[in-house]
Amino acid sequence: MSKKIAVIVGSLRKGSYSRQIAKNMLGLFPKGYEAEIVEIGQLPFFNQDWEADLETPKEVAEFRKQIGGFDAMLFVIPEYNRSISGVLKNALDVASRPYGQSIWNGKPAAIVSQSTGVISGFGANHHLRQILTFLNMPTLQQPEAYIAKSPDLLDDKGKLAEGTLKFLQTVVDAFVELIKRY
Ligand SMILES: Cc1cc2nc3c(=O)[nH]c(=O)nc-3n(C[C@H](O)[C@H](O)[C@H](O)COP(=O)(O)O)c2cc1C
Repeated sequence: MSKKIAVIVGSLRKGSYSRQIAKNMLGLFPKGYEAEIVEIGQLPFFNQDWEADLETPKEVAEFRKQIGGFDAMLFVIPEYNRSISGVLKNALDVASRPYGQSIWNGKPAAIVSQSTGVISGFGANHHLRQILTFLNMPTLQQPEAYIAKSPDLLDDKGKLAEGTLKFLQTVVDAFVELIKRY
């Protein structure tokens, strides 16, 4: 059976460069691996009362079920104020609870960060690594993927420059090797 990869984009913006990069990456997975983008913008803000006297919203229950059907996660993210976006943090939080029932547990992950400037999402990339460590998600160490000046690397149809695609292929290849180990 094919391995299923959830691709999570850390931006809701219509013209998001993160999303464009993520779309380019869908085709880089080999036979036997199916990658698809999983949406996170519909999720309400996490409320711990869902674990007590408030009913869990249906979007949250559906998201947990959906994530549970994937074998691994690829995060393609922007940097917001030197960290990850709020919408991504919320998605990580909602599927991490109830305590002891985190849907993320044990799923291998890879991170690609990008920015319009030269910092290339380094801060966001490493803040996400900290969270994934606690969520017990074995995360690809090398190659690290920091994409700087994204708009310069995408054409008007959203296709990535050949050199960047080649580099991201090495990231996907290493990620596939990591997934095989779990
Ligand atoms: C609220 C906000 C904070 C940002 N903070 C950073 C930052 O800390 N570092 C950085 O390199 N770019 C920062 N940017 C610029 C983003 O890298 C740029 O907007 C990027 O295109 C966002 O990703 P997207 O195209 O996927 O929406 C910030 C943008 C926004 C909207």
